[in-house]
Amino acid sequence: MRIIVLGFGNVAQPFVKILCEREKELSGNFGLKPRVVAVVDRGGAIVSSSGLNFTRILEAKKLGKSVAADTKLGRPRTTGMEIIEEVEADVVVEATPTNIVDGEPGLSFIKAALKKKRNVIATNKGPLAIALPSLMELARYNGVCLRFSGTVGGGTPLLDLGKKCLLGDKIQSIKGILNGTTNYILARMTEARVQMDDALKEAQAAGYAEADPTYDVKGIDSACKLVILANWLMDRRITIKDVNISGITEVTLNEIVKAEEEKAAIKLIASINGGEASVSPRLLPKNHPLCVGGTLNAVTFTTEFAGEITLVGHGAGGVQTAGAVLRDLIDIKRELSL
Ligand code: HSE
Repeated sequence: MRIIVLGFGNVAQPFVKILCEREKELSGNFGLKPRVVAVVDRGGAIVSSSGLNFTRILEAKKLGKSVAADTKLGRPRTTGMEIIEEVEADVVVEATPTNIVDGEPGLSFIKAALKKKRNVIATNKGPLAIALPSLMELARYNGVCLRFSGTVGGGTPLLDLGKKCLLGDKIQSIKGILNGTTNYILARMTEARVQMDDALKEAQAAGYAEADPTYDVKGIDSACKLVILANWLMDRRITIKDVNISGITEVTLNEIVKAEEEKAAIKLIASINGGEASVSPRLLPKNHPLCVGGTLNAVTFTTEFAGEITLVGHGAGGVQTAGAVLRDLIDIKRELSL
């Protein structure tokens, strides 16, 4: 299976490492023989139709160099779009940073790849939040797969559980904590009376926050994830414009202390039922299943037959998300028998 990787940051790097380390297992268990034929980062691309060897490339990245700096195979200034057009591949992994204003460059990359009949695995929430209904349609029209397990819940298989384990059942509503950074901030404010700005700085230092942390604290990241869940699991063709969003920026330390005195906690909750999709801070009793601490995510699906199912897990992290990309790859292999 020939793979193009667009964006080579904290998800794509562990992903290629896993492919190298698990070569035998992937082949033996799944018949999967992945071959990464091109990687693109901000400085350009590196291309090899016989498959890239990552030992040298990862060393160079550690030193802050672009993949394009490779003297033999590097192609400085070559863009993702040029690689999609020129390099033969079965799967494009789109892992460029999230941009919620216009989804670019990821949105154009995904569209171009689908039009060229490449299967796409996205870890980038921006294009999906803006255009998931039309992207799903484009994938269907071109007879290829569009997968994005890593965009919601990090490594926690929220999308897979809802899609694959509830066959025949119907998810009627979804409610949960979809952003680790804000959950961490609210927990730190509660437990140590830390001010919001300081707690955010801690979350940034630990690598949980988005490159633009206003996406976290204003509820935008949660809204992106809610859009993805709603489209994938509830057939609700919504985009981020349809979500009523308020983040945690107005939550005060006083309100948090008061909630605690009432054996409750303020949590940033994303929810969708038959009607409105929303993200807002809400008061939950301390013993509520969604009342999880730290950077955890927790989501309750209410289904027609199974009733309420709550899944709790780590919602962020490079290795965790790389594991989700691998699941998508195996899923595509099974779907298309590539
Ligand atoms: N900033 C995100 C979060 C990262 O805190 O949940 C994972 O999507």
